[in-house]
Amino acid sequence: MTVCDRMGASRAPPSRSVVIEVRKGREEGAVGCYGTHACGPPRGWGRWRDAVARWLGSGPMDVLIHLFVGLHIIGIAALLGGFLTQMKAMGQGTARFVPGMLHGALTMLVTGVALVGLNQAQGAHINTIKIGVKLALLIVILGLVYVKRDEERIDKAQFGLVGALTATNIFIAVLWT
Ligand code: HEM
Repeated sequence: MTVCDRMGASRAPPSRSVVIEVRKGREEGAVGCYGTHACGPPRGWGRWRDAVARWLGSGPMDVLIHLFVGLHIIGIAALLGGFLTQMKAMGQGTARFVPGMLHGALTMLVTGVALVGLNQAQGAHINTIKIGVKLALLIVILGLVYVKRDEERIDKAQFGLVGALTATNIFIAVLWT
């Protein structure tokens, strides 16, 4: 047990015996802590780490995850936006999978896999069934959009399926908590 474990993170004033133990521990070269209790303010690298964390509002890993969620949402925008621009044409049976839809679907895949990795690296809980369902639906979307990317006219039902699966994935993402 280190000196700081004994102190705990509690803000309650430490007892006299604990303070003496900490002082003795310091004299014997025990590693200090970065807490705001009796071990004193952070020093050296700890001071910088705390300053950066305060500036970012959270850890750098959280910022990275939020950045990837942002990219994930840009992917949705490209996929769903591409679909929406073709809605009128879909009614006439002349819709086509625009390049943005393929790029959006690929972005979803890459950022989704990265998000799984980042969340796991951070030890956060991941709903594997939810992610599995989203992945399965995205594979169907990606397959259809990729195979038919050069076709001038896409069947109404197939085009509609891509839009419906994309919308389903959005609702799975936000409602399945
Ligand atoms: C069309 C396909 C997809 C859509 C529309 C979609 C939608 C979304 C949305 C709206 C969010 C933010 C809301 C939230 O945090 O729950 C999100 C987060 C996330 N997505 Fe996706 N997603 C798709 C595909 C994927 C795929 C294929 C994967 C993984 C292989 C994935 C993994 C994740 C992860 C890990 C998060 C972080 C939040 C969480 O725990 O759910 N997504 N997705």
